[in-house]
Amino acid sequence: MQVIHTLADLRAVLAGSTRTALVPTMGNLHEGHLALVREAALHGFPVVATIFVNRLQFLPHEDFDQYPRTLERDCQLLEGAGCDIVFAPSESELYPEPQTFKVTPPAAIADLLEGEFRPGFFTGVCTVVMKLFQCVQPAVAVFGQKDYQQLMVIKAMARQFALPTEIVGAPTVRANDGLALSSRNGYLSQDERAEATALVRALRAIAAALREGARDVAAVEARQRAELDARGWKTDYLTVRRRIDLLPPTPEDFTARTPLVALAASRLGKTRLIDNLEFDF
Ligand code: PAJ
Repeated sequence: MQVIHTLADLRAVLAGSTRTALVPTMGNLHEGHLALVREAALHGFPVVATIFVNRLQFLPHEDFDQYPRTLERDCQLLEGAGCDIVFAPSESELYPEPQTFKVTPPAAIADLLEGEFRPGFFTGVCTVVMKLFQCVQPAVAVFGQKDYQQLMVIKAMARQFALPTEIVGAPTVRANDGLALSSRNGYLSQDERAEATALVRALRAIAAALREGARDVAAVEARQRAELDARGWKTDYLTVRRRIDLLPPTPEDFTARTPLVALAASRLGKTRLIDNLEFDF
C-alpha cells in the first residue's frame, strides 16, 4: 500500500487511465470505514482511501481542532482491509489558497436535517468531495448510509454534474449493542457510551410504532424525543422522512407505502451523534 501526501505524487501514481474505487474519510478509522474499503475492493479496481479532516465542513464552534488524527494507525487498518493507495494531503496541499469556489447543494436537500443544525455543512462536504474526485478521478466512490443525507446529497451532485463516478452506498456498521460506529464515539465517557445505544433504540421504537399502525407521526416522534431528552440527551432532530427526498410523509405516503427512514441527531454531553434506520411498515 502506498501512502501519498501530495497531489503531484498522486497524479504520478495514477498516471495513465487507472480506474479506481475511492473511499473518502476524515480518518480515525473504524470498522465502518473498513467496510467501505472492502465494498470498494469488490468493484475490481485499485482502492484509494483519502484521509483529510476538512475544515470547510466544520462550524467555528465545532470539533475541527479536537477531531482525532491517527494517520499511522489508520494506514495499518487500511492496509489490512485491502486498500491500495492512501491519499492524506495536508491542509495547505489540498487548499493551497483559500477555497473560495464552492459547490453549493440545493436548499431543498441540504438545508434541512443536518443542514438546518450545521449551516454550510453540505457545501463544505460537496466542495471537498468534488475536489477529491478531481484529484483521484475515481470510477466508483463508496459512502456510508450512516450519513444518510450526505450520501443522498452526493448522489444528487454526481447526477447533476454528470460526474463519471458511480456513487455506491454501504450499510451502517454497528457495535454489538447497536450503536452505529463513529469516530466521535471516542469522545464518549464510559457512562455515555453505555447510554449511547438509546439513540438507535429511539429509531427502532419509532419504526415499530409505525409498523404497528400508528399514523400520528408527530406524536410518535415527540414521544421518543421526550424519552431521550428525559435521559439527558439534547436532540436536534428525531424524525421520519421519505427516503426519496427526506420530506415528511403525507397521509397518502402511508396509503402508498412510500419507503421511509427515521433519522436522528442528538447530543450526549458534548458529543453529537447521528443515526438513521430505513424501515418498512
Ligand atoms: P467520515 O465521517 O470519516 O466518514 C467517512 C465515510 O465513512 C462516510 O461515507 C461515512 O458515511 C462512512 N461511515 C462512517 N461511519 C460508518 C458506519 N458506522 N458504517 C458505515 N459507514 C460509515 O463522512 C465524512 O467522513 C466526510 O464528510 C467526507 C465524506 C470524508 C468529506 O469530508
